[in-house]
Amino acid sequence: MINITIDGHVGSGKSTLAKELAKKIGFKVLDTGAIYRGFACAFKEEGNFKEVNEENVNLLVKNSTVEVFFEDELQHVVVNGIDYTSHLREEEISVLSAKISPFPPLREKVKYLQRNFAQKYNCVVEGRDIGTVVLPNADVKFFVTASEEVRAKRRFEQYKDKKDAPSFQEVLQDLKERDYRDEHRPIAPLKPAKDAIIVDSSNMTLPQTIDYCLSVIKDKVKI
Ligand code: DC
Repeated sequence: MINITIDGHVGSGKSTLAKELAKKIGFKVLDTGAIYRGFACAFKEEGNFKEVNEENVNLLVKNSTVEVFFEDELQHVVVNGIDYTSHLREEEISVLSAKISPFPPLREKVKYLQRNFAQKYNCVVEGRDIGTVVLPNADVKFFVTASEEVRAKRRFEQYKDKKDAPSFQEVLQDLKERDYRDEHRPIAPLKPAKDAIIVDSSNMTLPQTIDYCLSVIKDKVKI
């Protein structure tokens, strides 16, 4: 199977890039952040977990089943039989998924699912540690980034018409904190794989970024 990995900073546009590339080359796409988010939903649902600590995350992992399936190109995440897809993007779940994702047993469980997926399908897998930890032998690896200001501006534009939208400065500060957490955690920190192609989209439009990545893919693998 052909595996393409896309890791990168928060707000770098990696999810959109992964989806668009996969569509163009007829591959499946796996959003791995959504799986951590599914576990965060299950953690919340459990109700008895008063705080996020090693013991509680381990308990959750030990007693949980997880399943990913696709319907009309939408990735669904089902944990313990509950389909959490419509809750994955809630702010509370963003915060909780960031807290539970560093714990090793959870990372192991998600890694297993990711590797199974990559063995079954030609796919684009998007996340933080895909090229470094999950699929170190992937055929093509991208590390996507853009300057903090550009990423914050893109985020700000998405939020600005919503009720209680954060200011640009708040979005920028939040982004800096997330970068710091992703890059400095002891397990599976966000960093480019040695053989990753760095894509800095600060001065590129989405179509330009897609075209560039497509040309790299066509150079490296037969599709
Ligand atoms: O990409 P995202 O925002 O949907 O990811 C949700 C959380 O999961 C985020 O805090 C980072 C974490 N994550 C991770 O640790 N490893 C991945 N491969 C993907 C996401």
